[in-house]
Amino acid sequence: MKFFIDTASLKDIQEAQDLGILDGVTTNPSLMAKEGISGKNNIMRHYKAICDIVDGDVSAEVIATTFEEMIAEGEELAEIDEQIVVKIPMIKDGIKAIKYFSERGIKTNCTLVFSAGQALLAAKAGATYVSPFVGRLDDISSDGMILIEDIRTIYDNYGFETQILAASVRHPLHILQCAKIGSDVMTGPLSAIMALLNHPLTDSGLAKFLADHAKANAK
Ligand code: E4P
Repeated sequence: MKFFIDTASLKDIQEAQDLGILDGVTTNPSLMAKEGISGKNNIMRHYKAICDIVDGDVSAEVIATTFEEMIAEGEELAEIDEQIVVKIPMIKDGIKAIKYFSERGIKTNCTLVFSAGQALLAAKAGATYVSPFVGRLDDISSDGMILIEDIRTIYDNYGFETQILAASVRHPLHILQCAKIGSDVMTGPLSAIMALLNHPLTDSGLAKFLADHAKANAK
């Protein structure tokens, strides 16, 4: 399973990259705003800075909501770097835009997906990635992982090449559940990725090993 980090923080992206396990980055307008990035030129420069840190795909979301405007904005975003994936919302014009870009070899990520039917449409349009938001479904007492399972089944039934990018991942259990189901990618915050490191038996075991070594090697 590929690990993407869901942030616009260059510091967090660099930290995940330095760990050696990072496959890509997803951003959204809220995450860009959280980092204080505004204005078209600054936003474009920030995407370039992200691409310079990571080797993999970097999702850059369009703000436009009409077909023509999404095409214009998406083409500009795709020009920034070959790593850029144009992130497009799951709306009617978004599906048309995904089809347009897929026919021209530009990678897309269909975002704000909350149902298997939406994921089926995104795959039919040729999306590179589909982003079901598991955490936001959990937030409204609906099991986000059931959606990942349903999409996995549908895509496998027909051999769709669209990759399932489990988004809105909030904690390490989400990551494990995605891996068990067979999600192609997960995207989450640095905290969820780093939490996979932790186990109290690792900490106590290491402390004991070091203490025994120190005792045996004391003068
Ligand atoms: C998806 O690509 C979104 O950027 C993101 O995962 C949303 O996560 P949130 O629900 O924690 O805001």
